[in-house]
Amino acid sequence: MNAKRPATTAAQADPCCFVIFGASGDLAHRLLVPALYNLAARGLLPEAFAIIGVARGEKSEESFRADLENGLRRFALGAIDSEIVRRLLGSVGYVAGGADDPATYSKLGEALKRIEHARETRGNRLFYLATPPSAFAPIGRRLGETGLAREENGAWRRLIIEKPFGTDLASAQALNRELLELLQERQIYRIDHYLGKETVQNIMVLRFANGLFEPIWNRHHIDHVQITVAESLTVGSRARFYDETGALRDMVPNHLFQLLSLVAMEPPSRFEAHAVRLEKAQALDAIHLPNDGTALNDSVRAQYVAARVGDNEIEDYRKTKDVRPDSTTETYVALKLMIDNWRWAGVPFYLRTGKALKSRRTEVAIEFKQAPFAMFRDTPVDRLAQNFLVMSIQPNECIGLQFNAKVPGPAIAISGVHMTFKYQDYFDAAPSSGYETLIYDCMIGDAILFQRADGIEAGWRAVQPFLDAWRNAGPRGLAVYKAGSEGPAEADQLLARDGRRWRSIA
Ligand code: BG6
Repeated sequence: MNAKRPATTAAQADPCCFVIFGASGDLAHRLLVPALYNLAARGLLPEAFAIIGVARGEKSEESFRADLENGLRRFALGAIDSEIVRRLLGSVGYVAGGADDPATYSKLGEALKRIEHARETRGNRLFYLATPPSAFAPIGRRLGETGLAREENGAWRRLIIEKPFGTDLASAQALNRELLELLQERQIYRIDHYLGKETVQNIMVLRFANGLFEPIWNRHHIDHVQITVAESLTVGSRARFYDETGALRDMVPNHLFQLLSLVAMEPPSRFEAHAVRLEKAQALDAIHLPNDGTALNDSVRAQYVAARVGDNEIEDYRKTKDVRPDSTTETYVALKLMIDNWRWAGVPFYLRTGKALKSRRTEVAIEFKQAPFAMFRDTPVDRLAQNFLVMSIQPNECIGLQFNAKVPGPAIAISGVHMTFKYQDYFDAAPSSGYETLIYDCMIGDAILFQRADGIEAGWRAVQPFLDAWRNAGPRGLAVYKAGSEGPAEADQLLARDGRRWRSIA
């Protein structure tokens, strides 16, 4: 094999001040600062750069800097170079205050003025909302009202907003409305960390940079699509949030729909933010909205129950600390979705995601239609292996094709075989969480990998019939599955009904 190809490089981002709301939280320490470090190590952060933290607790700049450094040393994905840390954290400010308190914003304004002058960051500001979702609208409103986010004198002002963006269609629409009253859509970067993953971005390249796949990427050749995000972890310490949220809201309108829309979208007219996001939103918008009966029929919700997994005893979800003992929150969901357009009519998209499953696996599998008849004696069509194209996103980053081949020997015997491309065989990439790409893109003003209001709302619109049907049906219909299994039997039946099977996640 040839030498591995190095990762691409890019120009340094513009000078800017990086303001983190929720600066003492887990996200800031675990993901944001390590991502900033990786950008600095790759030479992508500007010289003129400063970090300002905003959080409730009183803290000196020195102790904030020490917190950031400790977090970085704990969560960095690779070795740490002290010189890069010194430069990255060379200019740090801290503002104590609540998200909805006007005093916070006057202090923030002063800190920005002081630091922007000292560091010559040209007034460019990136506000990162790493807070609980209840703070998104108040922060957006205060930043808008105080003018701190107003773009003037050639300086840009951008907001990155974490998920969850709303808890249903109505709340997502309300949040979009509130934000857009005071800010421009082009200033708002709604993040979904799945779009920072290389293999997720590669779905578009696979489809639109090759002549091979697109001609067969439609209802004439594709039997169905399976999208799986299986997690082996339990809800762990996030139970309070999770019990209010559930697997459907936590994963489907965002991460799974990112995968679905990249697979289902039409080719964009240009590779730029408006065109790409338009096509993705239209794919989501074409998802069929079922009535209550169909929604119940085409969905499975389930909760994990205790089991021994390897050396660990996993307890019932309901016994987890901070979970209500009679909770009916689903920790697993499987859906059958239909897309009402010319490309996909009649092709089911089966989606599943859950916690405490047998293994961690994220993949998109496209199953092609069977050969129309088998000319090989004694090999009926239904015994031929299915033709799958599998885009594996984690833990292994690879793309594989499963097809039939002749078993060597005098008789005609046929067996399914695999051809696999592994990222690590071809490319040398530094470890990254995906946040690097997204933060850098925001700094250079490229919104392709961020969600626009229409995409977010189309996603919620498509899951709303399931939320409604489940609410109307009450706890009836909540299935269970053993921790460490591949999911509930009901999910197998969802596909068996259509004469299909899930791929194993083992
Ligand atoms: C988060 C969800 O958005 O994504 C978590 O809130 C989930 O519940 C996580 O575990 C999965 O991300 P990844 O990158 O590990 O697949």
